[in-house]
Amino acid sequence: MAGAVAASDFQGATHLVPFEEDNLQYGKTVATGPIARLQQQLDTGDVTLTWDDQFGYLPAILKALKVPESSQMLVFSKTSFQRDRISPVSPRAVYFNDDVYVGFVPGSPLLEFSMADPKLGGVFYGFENVRTNRVKFVRTDNCLECHAGAKTMGVPGHLIRSFATDDRGVADLLSGGELITHRTPLEDRWGGWFVTGQHGSQRHRGNLVGAEAFARQQTEPNFAGNKTTLADLPPPFDVTRYLEPTSDIVALMVMEHQAHMHNFLTRLNYEATLQLKAYGHCNYIKSPLEAFLRYLLFVEEAPLKEPVTGSAEFARDFVAEGPRDSQGRSLREFDLKTRLFKYPCSYLIQSESFQALPPELKTRIYRRLEEILSGEDQSETWQRLTAEDRKAIREILVATLPDLPKSWKR
Ligand code: HEC
Repeated sequence: MAGAVAASDFQGATHLVPFEEDNLQYGKTVATGPIARLQQQLDTGDVTLTWDDQFGYLPAILKALKVPESSQMLVFSKTSFQRDRISPVSPRAVYFNDDVYVGFVPGSPLLEFSMADPKLGGVFYGFENVRTNRVKFVRTDNCLECHAGAKTMGVPGHLIRSFATDDRGVADLLSGGELITHRTPLEDRWGGWFVTGQHGSQRHRGNLVGAEAFARQQTEPNFAGNKTTLADLPPPFDVTRYLEPTSDIVALMVMEHQAHMHNFLTRLNYEATLQLKAYGHCNYIKSPLEAFLRYLLFVEEAPLKEPVTGSAEFARDFVAEGPRDSQGRSLREFDLKTRLFKYPCSYLIQSESFQALPPELKTRIYRRLEEILSGEDQSETWQRLTAEDRKAIREILVATLPDLPKSWKR
């Protein structure tokens, strides 16, 4: 599949990083991210979760973790942990914000959480969604069986797939090998997912359940596309079992950008940590760093051929977060005409995960970024960034990143 995880992201090395060994100690290190912090507040009684008769603790947890309900996306392929419960009549819902991902299957007592921990990268929790007065997020490494491997750059991380499925949601494993990222052309995305939102004549594999649907797509392109809400599909399941009537196309595109970005940050963090321990510097991370910059700056993004429109709620909730510069500009603003974002530089540069990278590595990233954004580096690789793009991104970063070197302020 074109545009999936490029082998060059890590010089083809997708081997598992030895993250359990002495220098990284993944399993023994305490997580410090939003879920660990919420658990502390729950233990001290500073926060309590309200039980909902239909959804259990889900709405209260989303609220406490500031994960917007509008980010809901539904996946029906039997590809994840609770696959026996997941199917086109009972899809799994996924919700997310900048550092937390939540999995919910109606009727299942298990809520699943993955998150981008500033130190550890991908960390996984289960949560028993039954009424109790001692709610508990349980960190578990069982999830790494799938969530740490070649698809996640060899580190504990996040997965987004696209498979053709049969009527029951069983994935045809030959129909999609790689992780979906912002580089993946739309026509290869969303197999096994429901998708709401407008995308014109651009085709995708969402909303196609079973071989017949895939065959019909050949003669009647987009017969299942361009649906505003799930009720327009109509889906083979009961929409009222979910918090929202959408599985938003823009939320999907954002998450696909973000998940690989998180994996990349984790891998860079581990590599730099290991090199710093071994050599006292991380100067050997050269080509992965360039690959990271290409991903950060969207230079290999699959272009949109026509505009995309998702739910107004998700767009509003997503753009509302995060810092703006004095002209009101934010890296979270959407373009959605020819590309995902108005300013092609990942908003995750402002995240805790990026900010927690080893300072030696961050210095190197900032140095290269300055060369590219100032226009000093005019090489072919960065040609998709116009002089205007570079200037705007540079100005937004200067206004919103407190730890940029002084040379940027000139
Ligand atoms: C059998 C393989 C498998 C196992 C085991 C597994 N997952 Fe996943 N997970 C997936 C796949 C594949 C996806 C991509 C979405 C999909 O297909 O449902 C995913 C996606 C997710 C997501 C959405 C964001 C992300 O991180 O990719 C969450 C949250 C998640 N899993 C949590 C968990 C937790 C918690 C566990 C352990 C209790 C777990 N998973 C175990 C395969 C697995």
